[in-house]
Amino acid sequence: MDLGLKGKFALVTGGSHGIGLATAIDLAREGCHVAICSRNPARRADAKARLEAFGTRILALECDVLQPGQIERCFGQVIESFGTLHILVNNVGGGGRWGSDVVEETEERVWSEVFEKNAMAAVRFTKLAMPFMRTQKWGRVVTITSRLGREGGGRPWFTMAKAAQTAMMKTLGMMPGLARDGITFNSVAPGAVMIPDTGWETALAGDPNLADQFPLGRLGRPEEVAAAVAFLCSERASLVNGAAIAVDGGESRAF
Ligand SMILES: NC(=O)c1ccc[n+]([C@@H]2O[C@H](COP(=O)([O-])OP(=O)(O)OC[C@H]3O[C@@H](n4cnc5c(N)ncnc54)[C@H](OP(=O)(O)O)[C@@H]3O)[C@@H](O)[C@H]2O)c1
Repeated sequence: MDLGLKGKFALVTGGSHGIGLATAIDLAREGCHVAICSRNPARRADAKARLEAFGTRILALECDVLQPGQIERCFGQVIESFGTLHILVNNVGGGGRWGSDVVEETEERVWSEVFEKNAMAAVRFTKLAMPFMRTQKWGRVVTITSRLGREGGGRPWFTMAKAAQTAMMKTLGMMPGLARDGITFNSVAPGAVMIPDTGWETALAGDPNLADQFPLGRLGRPEEVAAAVAFLCSERASLVNGAAIAVDGGESRAF
């Protein structure tokens, strides 16, 4: 299937690792020019080298999404170099293991930081991207949420932030002005995805039977999430708008 992505300009936030890197790889393989942004320079440089193998233009930019000024600077650098943006993947997020199971003992700072890192980072990048997408009458915004953001459970600050992202994509998708300008907004809700150097690696090391709880008997792989994201970013997904797509191997209970 030709996804019709050749020559499009894309930004994947947090594209240096995990689901973001797998998505950036898929988009570059399809012929997109891709920008990624993150904090750790060594990991960003490794990712850039992997992405450049596909022969399109690659930008690897420094950005801590907890600093709104850095989001603006990073987005400005993307536009300065690319001239416009067709595809935005709001991938940066996390905080599902932050705080404690005793909710009232978890500082308010955790709630606000997790909301900033997930929801507000997505709000800020989306607002910056929309004028360019409106002008060219084509755009794709995909936000990486979590199965928890569709059905509840987990730690409340994380689920609340993921539900907010899901609601934002649905609501923007319903706005006729944006839809008629050719822009779609969707979210992809992963279940447990095994990423090296993250909490799941530690959890699996501590409990060899952990994967038995999942329908597939294993965790997901980042490439399996990226494949769905690349489709939603494509020309072929023009009727998919405002959707929250579970990519979780059957893990979630929500329909
Ligand atoms: N893995 C799962 O099981 C799972 C399940 C459900 C949802 N998700 C969601 O999927 C998304 C990606 O998660 P992942 O598991 O692929 O994570 P990951 O492997 O830890 O990658 C996170 C990426 O975001 C960057 N990043 C983290 N904090 C940042 C910040 N403050 N500013 C800028 N960049 C930042 C990281 O680079 P630096 O650290 O160098 O900045 C890295 O590139 C998240 O939204 C997460 O909530 C993951």
